[in-house]
Amino acid sequence: MNSATPTVTLVQPDDWHIHLRDGPALARTVNDAAKQFGRVIVMPNLLPPVTNTVQAQQYRQRIIEALDLQLTLDPLMVLYLTDNTSADTVRQAKQSGFVHAAKLYPAGATTHSDSGVTDIKNIYPALEEMQKNGLVFSIHGEITDSHVDIFDREEKFIDQILTPLVSDFPELKIVFEHITTQQAVDFVQSANDNIAATITIHHLLYNRNHLLAGGIRPHYYCLPILKRELHQKSLIQAATSGNKKFFIGTDSAPHPQHSKESACGCAGAYTAFAAIELYAEAFDLANAIDKLEGFASFYGADFYQLPRNTQLITLQKKTWQAPSHFDMSDDKLIPLRAQQDILWSLID
Ligand code: DOR
Ligand code: ZN
Repeated sequence: MNSATPTVTLVQPDDWHIHLRDGPALARTVNDAAKQFGRVIVMPNLLPPVTNTVQAQQYRQRIIEALDLQLTLDPLMVLYLTDNTSADTVRQAKQSGFVHAAKLYPAGATTHSDSGVTDIKNIYPALEEMQKNGLVFSIHGEITDSHVDIFDREEKFIDQILTPLVSDFPELKIVFEHITTQQAVDFVQSANDNIAATITIHHLLYNRNHLLAGGIRPHYYCLPILKRELHQKSLIQAATSGNKKFFIGTDSAPHPQHSKESACGCAGAYTAFAAIELYAEAFDLANAIDKLEGFASFYGADFYQLPRNTQLITLQKKTWQAPSHFDMSDDKLIPLRAQQDILWSLID
């Protein structure tokens, strides 16, 4: 290796928010994740969703079976909350040892959220039990009212849902997922230590101009939607601050090319193939590569009260080009940064 090439060695990171999907997609998503991460928090928004421990156990088994022989990955499972999730269901999930969170999808908020929660009060019995037993409450934080502007949905969620919820459940462990606004950063910073947030790579690297200025670029369309540059700057500041309340969560989501490049394209960016490299790029651009390890490898594990990983990975500041596509079932998967440079690379 050229001794002038900057390198950084980290404890192996985890991904505290990923979509692996199911069936034929798993071969791609699971192995891409395993090349980088030790553990992944697996989102449950399948069709039908993962709403109980038996389904989570079966899904976990399919994920493990999709792993290539030489790779390892520990899938940490998540339950999908519905209007009917009982305290008993939550109790069983916690007792399983492999379910680590339950997720709120407000009905209609995003991909596969039709079975989600229509009124937060409907899950109060489940939340009471989670507050008691320590199962993490994972939140997609957007209001779904069609009259609320799509760029304001996170901010309104904080005011209308999250603030009252935190005062009703002061001991509940909450991850405010994929935050996108300065208001969310401020909320998490000033909340008690039971509240943390994940930040995606695409919200660190991009803002709504990348999505909309000079033409609509559907591969940047995700939910919550990219916001103004001032919000992007606030997220970069939070992620690189060394504050343990902010940690990695890619929200990597594979969608076939025809669903993204469509008159009504769906939300999600595929980043699992180069996630830690892209985070390294964002941290380096902010002159904060020294803060990457805490964000990517320590704070999430600490929040979930799991041991930190012990293996190491090394990244070098060496440019490579992302592929134009991956084959997925009988369609293509276009990754974020397709055919463009990525400035850091993982050394095998
Ligand atoms: O962009 C997104 N894609 N946001 C989400 O909340 C869900 C995800 C998906 O499931 O594809
Ligand atoms: Zn997600």
